[in-house]
Amino acid sequence: MRFEPARGLSGTLEPPADKSISHRAGLLGAMSAEPVRVANYLRAADTRSTLEAVRALGALVEENGAELVIRGAGLREAREPDRAIDVGNAGTLLRLLPGWLAAQQGRSFTLDGDESIRRRPVDRIALPLRAMGARLEAREGSFAPLTIHGERLLAVDHDLDVASAQIKSCLLMAALTADGTTTVAEPSRSRDHTERMLLRAGVEIAREGNVVTAVNVDELALESVAVPADPSSAAFFVTAGVLVPGSRLLLADVGVNWTRTGFLRIVRRMRGIVLGDLEHESEAIVPEEPTSDLDVAHGSLEGTVVEPGEVPLAIDELPLVALLGCFAEGSTVVTGAQELRVKESDRIAGVVEGLRGLGAEIEATEDGFAVTGTGGLRGGTIDSLGDHRLAMMGAVAGLASREGVEVIGMDAAAISYPGFVADLRTLGAF
Ligand code: S3P
Repeated sequence: MRFEPARGLSGTLEPPADKSISHRAGLLGAMSAEPVRVANYLRAADTRSTLEAVRALGALVEENGAELVIRGAGLREAREPDRAIDVGNAGTLLRLLPGWLAAQQGRSFTLDGDESIRRRPVDRIALPLRAMGARLEAREGSFAPLTIHGERLLAVDHDLDVASAQIKSCLLMAALTADGTTTVAEPSRSRDHTERMLLRAGVEIAREGNVVTAVNVDELALESVAVPADPSSAAFFVTAGVLVPGSRLLLADVGVNWTRTGFLRIVRRMRGIVLGDLEHESEAIVPEEPTSDLDVAHGSLEGTVVEPGEVPLAIDELPLVALLGCFAEGSTVVTGAQELRVKESDRIAGVVEGLRGLGAEIEATEDGFAVTGTGGLRGGTIDSLGDHRLAMMGAVAGLASREGVEVIGMDAAAISYPGFVADLRTLGAF
């Protein structure tokens, strides 16, 4: 699909529902004994995989227009399916679900998915789950198919060596059924949607510094979840709005949880114009997921340095930081982001080779990349490598480029955002 240079994006748009929060609503809904109503669940390939998975595990999911009602299997009552659960392309589902299944005593479950999911490591969850007494087998010790045999779990103090919300969330789900009080220490803050949702579900959960403590429960009492618009999807329009001359956009009801707005803080530091009422950092876990409208306008940019502590707060938006860096004055450097190598694709290689093919001056480093801003981008062809975020980055690059961009594999956008191209059209991009 080709994206020609645009003359300016304008208008108002509510981006699609948050993928992370939708996965968690689907899973915690299935773990609940009472029905959970979910407003604005994301309708995309990844989150459809979660609904199919929980159905296979015995949950009933009713889809009433915009609202879902999940009648859960219960915390300790997941049904053993008669075949492998297909997680599709969903890394979050692959990493979170075993936290629940590990405690289903006497039952076994196998998780498998597409070619990309089979390259994504699961030892990062298998090792700490084993420390709680779980029994898991992964292909070559590290990859899907992953088989989980339910066992009685014990609470453990975990000390993670990567700041990953997926690992933390998996262990917090296991904590719900483990005997005692589980702690999870992470090297720096990562997104905390699981903690907030568990707090709303009546779980005794708290944070002190980078350590989260959770006590086991008999049942979850979640009742309802309202999913805000996804800040990671909004980020593509923020980038387009800032880069394409003449743009002025309003993005409505976007989730502005502090652990998800690292990208907006980076854009502001680059002097990009993004107005909105962003949540402030708080020590305690708060129950709500705040939202704000974001007002975006075109303007010139300065390069910046993204430090390791900021990386988990902007992890999925770092490809867009690279794209912004191409247009900024001076250099833009991302450090401490080696996790990008184990996303839907190797995102360091995908971003560097992809943007270089469009004329960017960009180098890969072991743990990130360095871009020298040239004030613009020529254009050309970019391969999404089947990665939704690279596909959408390529499209935005095309709108802001001098000669346009052809994206190979644009259909990957359907993983998180099936209506992406239509929404660009709504904003007058073409
Ligand atoms: C996610 C966490 C992040 C992110 C992924 C979704 C989540 O992964 O990249 O797209 O929903 O918890 P890590 O926590 O492994 O960095």
